[in-house]
Amino acid sequence: MTSVNDLRSSFTNYFTRNGHEAVASSPLVPRNDPTLMFTNAGMVQFKNTFTGIEKRPYSRATSAQKCVRAGGKHNDLDNVGFTARHHTFFEMLGNFSFGDYFKEEAIELAWTLLTKEWDLPKEKLMVTVYQDDDEAMALWKKIAGLGEDRIVRLGAKSNFWQMGDTGPCGPCSEIFYDHGEHVWGGPPGSPEEDGDRWIEIWNLVFMQYEQQGDGSRDSLPRPSIDTGMGIERIAAVMQGVHDNYDIDLFKSLIGAAASATGVDPKGEGNRSLRVIADHLRSMSFLIAEGVLPSNEGRGYVLRRIMRRAMRHATLLGASEPVIHKLVSTLVREMGQAYPELRSGEAMIAETVRLEEGRFLKTLGRGLQILADETKDMNEGAVLDGGSAFKLYDTYGFPLDLTQDALRLRGITVDQPGFDAAMAAQKAEARASWSGAGGAATDTVWFGLADKLGPTEFLGYETETAEAEIKALLKDGVEVAALAADEEGIVVVNQTPFYGESGGQVGDSGALHGDGLAADVQDTQKFHGVFAHMVKVSEGTLKVGQPITLVVDHTRRSSIRSNHSATHLLHEALRIVLGDHVAQKGSMVSPDRLRFDFVHTKPVTEQEMAEVEDIANAIVLQNTPVETRLMGVDEAKESGARALFGEKYGDEVRVVAMGEPTGNGLGWSVELCGGTHVRRTGDIGLVSIVAESAVGAGVRRIEALTGTAARHRGNTNVAIVNSAAGLLRSGGHEVLERIAALQEQLKRSEKALSDAKQKLAMGGGSEKTEGPEIINGIAFVGRVVEGLQPKDLRGLMDQTKKQVGSAVIAIVGVTDDGKAGLAVGVTEDLIGKASAVDLVRAGSAALGGQGGGGRPDMAQAGGPNGSKAEEALAAIRALL
Ligand code: ALA
Repeated sequence: MTSVNDLRSSFTNYFTRNGHEAVASSPLVPRNDPTLMFTNAGMVQFKNTFTGIEKRPYSRATSAQKCVRAGGKHNDLDNVGFTARHHTFFEMLGNFSFGDYFKEEAIELAWTLLTKEWDLPKEKLMVTVYQDDDEAMALWKKIAGLGEDRIVRLGAKSNFWQMGDTGPCGPCSEIFYDHGEHVWGGPPGSPEEDGDRWIEIWNLVFMQYEQQGDGSRDSLPRPSIDTGMGIERIAAVMQGVHDNYDIDLFKSLIGAAASATGVDPKGEGNRSLRVIADHLRSMSFLIAEGVLPSNEGRGYVLRRIMRRAMRHATLLGASEPVIHKLVSTLVREMGQAYPELRSGEAMIAETVRLEEGRFLKTLGRGLQILADETKDMNEGAVLDGGSAFKLYDTYGFPLDLTQDALRLRGITVDQPGFDAAMAAQKAEARASWSGAGGAATDTVWFGLADKLGPTEFLGYETETAEAEIKALLKDGVEVAALAADEEGIVVVNQTPFYGESGGQVGDSGALHGDGLAADVQDTQKFHGVFAHMVKVSEGTLKVGQPITLVVDHTRRSSIRSNHSATHLLHEALRIVLGDHVAQKGSMVSPDRLRFDFVHTKPVTEQEMAEVEDIANAIVLQNTPVETRLMGVDEAKESGARALFGEKYGDEVRVVAMGEPTGNGLGWSVELCGGTHVRRTGDIGLVSIVAESAVGAGVRRIEALTGTAARHRGNTNVAIVNSAAGLLRSGGHEVLERIAALQEQLKRSEKALSDAKQKLAMGGGSEKTEGPEIINGIAFVGRVVEGLQPKDLRGLMDQTKKQVGSAVIAIVGVTDDGKAGLAVGVTEDLIGKASAVDLVRAGSAALGGQGGGGRPDMAQAGGPNGSKAEEALAAIRALL
């Protein structure tokens, strides 16, 4: 049996033997095409090579390309699980000629591989050609010896291939394989062509044109070749199975899913197992590239795929997260060919597990609601869009999940109704946003961008520049002038001020001119137009005036330093934590920097120290920071780090710093439009000050550089020194001394509390003084320092026992100088003296409000602990 892994290498070896360069798969998130959501064919990475923009050192190439078709022009998501051949993720084997060979050799190479190398019987093969392509027709006859009955002419729908709405394209010729009579279906072009008997296995595209956005087509500089063969389909052929999901790779994935859910892989749950196996691949490959589930763009497509798989797991009876457990099987199957799966395994599994946890919380409730709403519906019924939207909005059901859930019952969803509900919600959100002035402002900036074009930025090279005022705004509206004391926005033709972007804050500074002066408080960028937020201090700014713009040098220097340090930390984090550390965001201000990255657990103290050490080692190299302007592909080929999902122009700035470790451009190489130090030594010092979590699988570090880092260090040293002074010890002994003091304090507190307790309970060995006799009644009066009011009662009871017969008054003076008073009358004296009356007399002396109790025991309090003796005197007097 020819395994998927064997087939991949067999294909690659064949084409390298035939002079092709083996090129690695490019990422699923295209780096060279802002119009494409996911790489959907092998030719995507060669797009600019076909059109001649990009030069490569070879003119023949071969690759096994990872592809996702789950969004955009090629979208197979809804079909997965329902057919033998649809996948959201698949691998495309291909060979490419960039102006080298054309139709003849392409056909020859393909035919030889299939019939000679792989020994497929000629009788089982058929081909199609584009209807007008007589040349291809003749070549197939000549090379393959096929009769006209086995070469079918088809129209553009089947035999003209294009990547997307724009890009290289051309007529194509497809090779079909006959799975045999036992399968229903007919040859291409026949009424039964949609059956599964005749399956397209290879598409040879004769690239000749470039589709333009306006609908026109230009000829490519030289005719080229792009071919694509889904590895899953050819594996099915080579393994003698008819269904892609029966090949070795899928057997293993489906087997894992079956045992994780405890269902029979051949039984009723097979459809769900297929969905899970397919979706496991696309989600894992996407996450390995740093795409995380979210509610927009690529992240949302990923979330849809994940949630669809999760629903199918619950259909199989799983009530706990299971899909994350399948990642290891996938890594075992495909990790050798795609090492990013191996290095990302832990992160992938963690991301899937978290999403499973999130979705399972609402899934049951959502399914219940769906069941309730559709319980009276029959085949052909339509679920209203509002209900589908509620499932989406409240229970996290993407529309296609709801559709998928209803599909087997023949129920559809009112999609226009769903879209309308969605639009209404968005309009509401926009209304509250434009209330803050946003929408109106946006219109103004579109207008200015149209009228003036982008502002030229001079700030990489200079912090001072002359410019002409091109527009002025006040309160979001264009004005002709801004007078002294007014605040507004200045737009110029060119500026050294950096407009906030890429995580770096905008510059501030000043502008001046003939009789003019203004503070620039901030700079923003809208559609390429720089907005200088100013407050005029002198003169009146007018459109057309020449001015000089001066950036705040100190502030900008700190920003440069923090931005460069961000790059060093990024690379150091990758070295210490691993290659999965993709940047998720950053914030560079003059005071500090923040860097967010993919990592599923906290960074330990030790890892942080290592990261800091590595970054500071590069600072000490003090090598020049080099910026190059490069083609975006060239830049990425040089290994430059880029932000996933970020749209870059044709030309990008590539910032390199530190001595290169290999033959690259530098130790750290990033696509970056920010401003940087001249040499790494300018950073001075990098100090990480915080580490935290900012979301599922995303961590944040914060750091200081240069003077701020030094000040923080100095402040910490000063604190230690003062502490050492107070402790009368050397700085190195501070910790030891504090520990000893804490121990001592603990012991003293314990001793003190014991002593108080004893005192309260009657003073330990100290005897209560004998009573004095007043009016024939024995009276005991005591003042106890440091006694809390709550302890008075205990002491009173104790004293009563000791003296037998007496009136007792105890004043407890607390540590903060307040007083508590208790008066007790022993049983034999009740009637002769009243504790309540006596306590009132005492309380008055203490500045209290009276107090109360029973004839034998009463309590009171007062603010004046110093009047304790007076209180006793008042009681004596009353007695
Ligand atoms: N780019 C061609 C395809 O995807 C080969 O079918």
